[in-house]
Amino acid sequence: MQDLRERFEKAGQGHVFKYFDALDKGEQEALLNQLKMVDLDELERLNKTLVFAKNTDAGIDFSKLAPAPYIPLPPEKDADAQWAKAKEVGEEAIRSGKLAAFVVAGGQGTRLGFNAPKGLYKVTPVKQKSLFQVFAEKILSASRKYGVRIPWIVMTSHINNAATVEFFEENAYFGLDKDDVIFFKQGLMPAVDLGGKIILEGKGKIAMTPDGHGGCLRGMVRSGALAELKRRGLECVSYFQVDNPLVNIIDPYFVGFHILGKSDMSSKMIPKAYALEKVGHFCMLDGKLTVVEYSDLPAQYQEQVDENGKLKFIAGSVAIHILDVGFIERLGSSTKPEDRLPFHRANKKIPFIDDSGVLQKPEKPNGIKFEMFVFDALPMAANPVIIEGFRGDEFSPVKNAEGLDSPATCKAHQKAQWARWLAAAGVNIDTDKDGIPGIDIEISPLFASNQADFVASWNALGQKPEIRNGLYIA
Ligand code: UD1
Repeated sequence: MQDLRERFEKAGQGHVFKYFDALDKGEQEALLNQLKMVDLDELERLNKTLVFAKNTDAGIDFSKLAPAPYIPLPPEKDADAQWAKAKEVGEEAIRSGKLAAFVVAGGQGTRLGFNAPKGLYKVTPVKQKSLFQVFAEKILSASRKYGVRIPWIVMTSHINNAATVEFFEENAYFGLDKDDVIFFKQGLMPAVDLGGKIILEGKGKIAMTPDGHGGCLRGMVRSGALAELKRRGLECVSYFQVDNPLVNIIDPYFVGFHILGKSDMSSKMIPKAYALEKVGHFCMLDGKLTVVEYSDLPAQYQEQVDENGKLKFIAGSVAIHILDVGFIERLGSSTKPEDRLPFHRANKKIPFIDDSGVLQKPEKPNGIKFEMFVFDALPMAANPVIIEGFRGDEFSPVKNAEGLDSPATCKAHQKAQWARWLAAAGVNIDTDKDGIPGIDIEISPLFASNQADFVASWNALGQKPEIRNGLYIA
């Protein structure tokens, strides 16, 4: 204990022991356990580079930025030799059990204003299935189609892990084998005030916040989840975010391009819907693939068009990747600075105890949270591949309570997807000009999770269901 105290004092963080002597034994022990998790050298580095540095912008020379190349979507995937080959290779890898699914679900979902882990949010139009149920059924459906167990790794945080696991338990893992769902908690970072001092959120508790979705790499290694994947002979993981029920989790084309490209990490791009859409941008910088966040890229670049009037930086990052197990291991376990994901700074409102020991809830940001982003691994990846995806089959996130990227837009996009699938099977439903049906319909992932499978399953149905409001095809 003395040693720990001295180290914190030497690092200018001795104030965390201010109330130590007045705590009872259990509280003292809990605080010491928290403090043992803090890497003081790392914190000092972050204070220097992100808290005290004068220039905290992204530090990018935008004049050097070029759009990243990507493999464009052909009019008909299976009629294109390159895409057909990728599908064949991808299907073979999936069938032989090389692919696991991986969702990052450790975020706090503050924008949605939903007071539970986001994966519990009810998102489908007819059956009100939760995000987790939709993902589970997509994985289960692929697992049946390819006749293989597909493990699903779920990254949670210390804040939402218990509620997440409980939800899966209550719902009998939505039909998945419990042994194939592997939870792990992401790492934590101490939050500091604007002067770089660790924030005390109680007399015996420092403020620790999740280390960002990029924390998944070291989290997977530290938690043993990666060792488990290796034990099972998995070679790559299909990475997605908890907010996007449209995600095509087990996509043989994507897996095939990743394998054929001998890529460490591959990504899907969706052409931006409009210039200032709030997504990351795939760019090349000094010969490396890099994602530049919308918040870092000045509007003049986001809006730039080429001679044909097409957006120059059109490739939006929708946070869908495939990562090699070996690549996760390299980055997640290495101590070399060149293998480390950088941290980013986020200013946040963090409850704290004031000088007289009273808890205060600030009304404006008073502290700094440090986060890593998974896409910062791309510049470190060998042969990163980007393929284009079709937005209507890949991406409609639930981020805000209302307006853009909200439950309402997401429901509309799910219905539009299913109306397209029905139309491909020869059943036309009345839709508006954006292809959104006026009635509520829903297709279970267990019936089909892509258009081609839907048409096949639909044609195989003896008695076709009547098209009406509330139709659920399972
Ligand atoms: C993110 C991406 C953006 C992309 C967009 C697509 C960042 C910084 N930006 O934006 O490039 O275009 O999604 O929808 O990521 N999470 C954790 N642990 C954490 C923090 C987040 O697991 O500590 C998870 C969340 O649960 C969620 C995902 O990461 O699944 C995304 O987090 P969020 O902060 O909502 O990202 P966005 O700002 O929406």
